[in-house]
Amino acid sequence: MFSRRLSLFNALLVVLLPMTFTAHAQYNALHIPDTISGTTFNLNLKDTFVQYKTGNQTITAGINGDFWGPTLIFQKGDTVHMNVHNFLNDSTTLHWHGMHLPAVMDGGPHQVIPPGTIWQPYWQVKNNAATYWYHPHLHTMTEEQMTKGLGGFIIVRDAAEASLALPRTYGVDDIPLALTSRTFDASNAFKYLPGPYGDEMVVNGTLKPEVNFGKQFVRLRVLNAEMERGYNIGFSDNRTFYIIGNDGGLLDAPVSVTRAKLLVGERLEILVDMTGDATGNSIDLKAYNAGQPFGFPGSEPGTTGAFGSLLNNTDFNILHINVVAATTGAITSLPASLVANTYLTAADATISRTVNVTDGTPGGPGGPGTPFSLDHTPFALTTINKTVSLNAIEKWTVTNNNVFGHSFHIHDVEFKIISRSSGPVGSHESGWKDTYYLPVNESVTFVAKFDDYADALHPFMYHCHFAPHEDGGMMGQFVVTDPAGIAQTEQRGADYTIYPNPVNGKLYIAFNDPAMKAYYITITDVVGRTVYMLPRPQLTDGIDMSRFKAGIYFLQLTDEQTKTTTTKKFAKE
Ligand code: C2O
Ligand code: CU
Repeated sequence: MFSRRLSLFNALLVVLLPMTFTAHAQYNALHIPDTISGTTFNLNLKDTFVQYKTGNQTITAGINGDFWGPTLIFQKGDTVHMNVHNFLNDSTTLHWHGMHLPAVMDGGPHQVIPPGTIWQPYWQVKNNAATYWYHPHLHTMTEEQMTKGLGGFIIVRDAAEASLALPRTYGVDDIPLALTSRTFDASNAFKYLPGPYGDEMVVNGTLKPEVNFGKQFVRLRVLNAEMERGYNIGFSDNRTFYIIGNDGGLLDAPVSVTRAKLLVGERLEILVDMTGDATGNSIDLKAYNAGQPFGFPGSEPGTTGAFGSLLNNTDFNILHINVVAATTGAITSLPASLVANTYLTAADATISRTVNVTDGTPGGPGGPGTPFSLDHTPFALTTINKTVSLNAIEKWTVTNNNVFGHSFHIHDVEFKIISRSSGPVGSHESGWKDTYYLPVNESVTFVAKFDDYADALHPFMYHCHFAPHEDGGMMGQFVVTDPAGIAQTEQRGADYTIYPNPVNGKLYIAFNDPAMKAYYITITDVVGRTVYMLPRPQLTDGIDMSRFKAGIYFLQLTDEQTKTTTTKKFAKE
């Protein structure tokens, strides 16, 4: 949609204003993703295309659009229901990065959504107000599917954040920025192999973006949505800006910086003080990536080859900013303090674990070309690498005595970084985190509490967030188990009845044993194709079959307690 708007804009410049605005013609209006609020979120994933360049359109994938997806706005405490409909030609998954939720709703590599299938996870929002995101997580396919453009922002709002005098008019003084880069091949297709680094900056799907900032404080929610590149952000006039939030919440107070590093998967909320800027002036948000030490992703000097890119080891523009008049109700001062966080400390932890970056080295155990791994154990869907007890507070030390930097992410929790072997933990990462930079020759220790959700069957992931590394197997998985829950397990048949049969509208389930509960329902059609995935369905309202074609279907129901699966056949008229 934005691309069509751009073409029209460019056409107007050419036809009506041939000379006047040449300085502006090099920029395109920054795309601001649409928002969805409330408690029901319809997300349609589809293959599509965007007219990025003259000539061929670029094949992309989008969610309710052409590239990237809508921003989901959640209120803390609400139960949110997702209707994820996969119209892609491939299977996929959709992971809610940073959300604390049941593993069966997490959208990791186990919750595969086949083409044509509807997946309906739901959960109560327990996360703090902050910026999160969602993206595909299909093992070995994450880089390809993210490169096509699948992903989107999640903004959580809560009472503590709402009580602060912060900019929060979406798209006006509260602007999401998804940073990534792409290389186009000769036929204008995105290249994602062999190298992970794009030649051209892409923000919210826009090439060479520009945006207007009023003369006021502007809040940016910056996400590194790259495949691998890190960003060392700053402004072209080296102005001080203020970090107010990390991945999982606001900081205690704003932290003043002139540069901040943001690795893949990390988010930073910043405030930019534009009150002293003159209307009509412009500045640039830039990546100061020149001169970063080797191991910082994108520091490689080459412009071609597997790890080459025109943006490597250089300073480049992210976003062109034009100063305009302040909006009504503009925020014109910096809050002195934000929220009162009670962070976990090392003393809270009762278990210590280690994770080591391994392989990926020419001389490593697997020989040349070995992908990176964690603890010499390449990811396998059937291997549970760690078992965590429900409510445990754990200290994880991740060590990278290997050849290159990484971005470490763990699902389920927001944690507190308590130490870095290279020196003090940066004030820019002093808040709640779920992803962090793990430079080469460094150990990072964090403390996390694994509360609320135990499930011995569905694991959570921990991994490098560089898409090629994750796809290559630099990932492990853990289950959170509740020893009390296991003790109560009893033998029981999965005895239930489905009605009416045949069904026209809603299908209902009657359990003959009142202790039975549906853990998972999958509905397949007569050729075995999955059409409906219902994790922990709330069955009181029935299962809506009205959108499915007439025919024979099979309902497979897994019982919560026994994990026994029983199949029933039914007809849809
Ligand atoms: Cu952003 Cu395991 O993911
Ligand atoms: Cu990595």
